[in-house]
Amino acid sequence: MSTFEPGFRWGAATSSYQIEGATAEDGRGPSIWDTFAATPGAIDNGDTGEVAADHYHRYRDDVTLMKDLGLGAYRFSIAWPRIQPAGSGAVEQRGLDFYRRLVDTLLEQGIEPWPTVYHWDLPQPLEDAGGWPERDTAQRFADYAAIVHGALADRVTHWTTLNEPWCSAFLGYATGRHAPGRREPAAAVRAAHHLLLAHGLAAEAMPGSTVGLTLNLTDVSPASRAEPDLDAARRIDGLQNRLFLDPVLLGDYPADVQADLAGVTSFEHVLPGDLKTISAPLDFLGVNYYSPMLVAGGGAPRPSAYVGSDRIEQVDGGRPRTSIGWEIDALGLLSLLTRLNRDYPAIPLYVTENGAAFDEPVHDRARVAYLDGHLRACAAAIAQGVPLEGYFAWSLLDNFEWSYGYAQRFGLVHVDYETQERTLKDSARWYAGVIARGGL
Ligand code: FCB
Repeated sequence: MSTFEPGFRWGAATSSYQIEGATAEDGRGPSIWDTFAATPGAIDNGDTGEVAADHYHRYRDDVTLMKDLGLGAYRFSIAWPRIQPAGSGAVEQRGLDFYRRLVDTLLEQGIEPWPTVYHWDLPQPLEDAGGWPERDTAQRFADYAAIVHGALADRVTHWTTLNEPWCSAFLGYATGRHAPGRREPAAAVRAAHHLLLAHGLAAEAMPGSTVGLTLNLTDVSPASRAEPDLDAARRIDGLQNRLFLDPVLLGDYPADVQADLAGVTSFEHVLPGDLKTISAPLDFLGVNYYSPMLVAGGGAPRPSAYVGSDRIEQVDGGRPRTSIGWEIDALGLLSLLTRLNRDYPAIPLYVTENGAAFDEPVHDRARVAYLDGHLRACAAAIAQGVPLEGYFAWSLLDNFEWSYGYAQRFGLVHVDYETQERTLKDSARWYAGVIARGGL
């Protein structure tokens, strides 16, 4: 049996736009996801987050579900447009009150609240002013972070500034697959920097708390030992992993990635002092892992999230896939965690997202197998000395899966979107057992 230390945190994760609904309630302003979802063709089936899992109204019942599962911690995100509908200035008290009620309900049930300050729902007025490619957005984010911290720090200890800045920057501004749907490679690289700066400034604005950052990282391998494939793996690892890890944990952008991006942008948007702000000591790193990447170089150029590396293609590793098409490889998580501990030592790690989309409504054997394999990888990493302190399954509930809409279901708990009825899937029962036993 793989056991975990008694203090290991067992959790599940969600995010505001994906579950809350109530997008026009209690003074909430529009976010880039409201605008994007209203754009014809942007989201499969024309789905939007207007109702989602109606968590805004059902949060008490959802916390009861969490209690029934035995969760020790719940990772959720705070919707910036509920707190500052215009993205700056006036604060909407009703928005703060919602998160206070949520946090208090969690605490009453003995569940630790783990808020993420930003999980992609940028207030639309800030995008209208230029969005993340504009430096000012970072300062606006720090102001907002100080507001939510001021309102909740008496009852919340662990804070995460950003979720997956890679997605915000490169899916939002390079491929346009995510809101705001822009296709401007140079702007995407600026966005990445301003997101990192936003993280650093926000961390300064949240004194006395335990503050982390969540990145979507992956295990990248070359398709062969041929030079173009080896170079492809170096480049993709650079853009996906090191472009974010190095500034935060080592205090500088990797030289090879800067060179790879030379045709896209000079790094003139990086001002003196920025890297010092970005690399201030971090209390923990959140790792979101779903799937590995096998890459080959030398193909024909094509539009890509990996700006400046558009001849690289992701090749089929021959492994089984989830319903969203992502290859399953638990050993990729083990390899990623041990690599983090080697290249960026001594930082406490949490898996802040891991999970799978499968179209098995309640008897979700495939999800149980996925989670079991990845938790075994976590146990193996710990046995090899990796300071992994917790695991959050993605996701507590079926929810709005961004550009895929509601068709892709990641929940431990099934949501009937007609009635909003929640039903525990087999994976939820299985996970409750793992938590109760403290291991597999
Ligand atoms: C991650 C996101 C999360 C969810 C999962 C499947 O990239 O952080 O919101 O969509 O993927």
